[in-house]
Amino acid sequence: PRSIFFSRHGESQYNVEGKIGGDSLLSPRGMQYAKALPALITDNIGEKPLTVWTSTLKRTIQTSQYLPYTKLTWKSLDELDAGVCDAMTYEEIEQAYPDDSANRDEDKFNYRYRGGESYRDVVVRLEPVIMELERQENILIIGHQAILRCLYAYFHHLQQADLPYIKIPLHTVIKLTPKAYGCDEERYTLPI
Ligand code: F6P
Repeated sequence: PRSIFFSRHGESQYNVEGKIGGDSLLSPRGMQYAKALPALITDNIGEKPLTVWTSTLKRTIQTSQYLPYTKLTWKSLDELDAGVCDAMTYEEIEQAYPDDSANRDEDKFNYRYRGGESYRDVVVRLEPVIMELERQENILIIGHQAILRCLYAYFHHLQQADLPYIKIPLHTVIKLTPKAYGCDEERYTLPI
């Protein structure tokens, strides 16, 4: 049976600084993850053919750089656009836009950043990606937290309200194997 593999990019410079969005490079730990990823993949999927999909952002492309497979970049896999809050920390957002922070806590799925997107918007823009995923064989997606939450919720049939809170840790590959009903899941975490 074919499987779909999800991984967030390795830790980025913005992750270290607690900033959201942006297009930063990987941190030294993130680079270690990128270097360890090929062995993690071969150990767990063997010789099966695999195609790697990344976003257009540097941190996912950098994370894929040592993988010896065909790669494709999708603009639709770019991280949720935080609009005017891009490149800010959550504390800075709370200071600058306290009402927005409260609204987001109230309804995180529907909250749309000023000049940016909501989780609902991301679910819509991921539709073509999901259509293509349904037709493909083994795919590894190196993505972003909000994006992978949406894809994960789709394959596990999770509720919209729960979707923005799904835990997708760094430095972990999630393997989903679709079955007649739902998906089997395994997780592989690198101690980096
Ligand atoms: O902090 C990393 C990040 O991918 C941000 O770029 C993004 O805005 C955020 O996570 C999404 O998580 P949440 O919706 O919980 O803020």
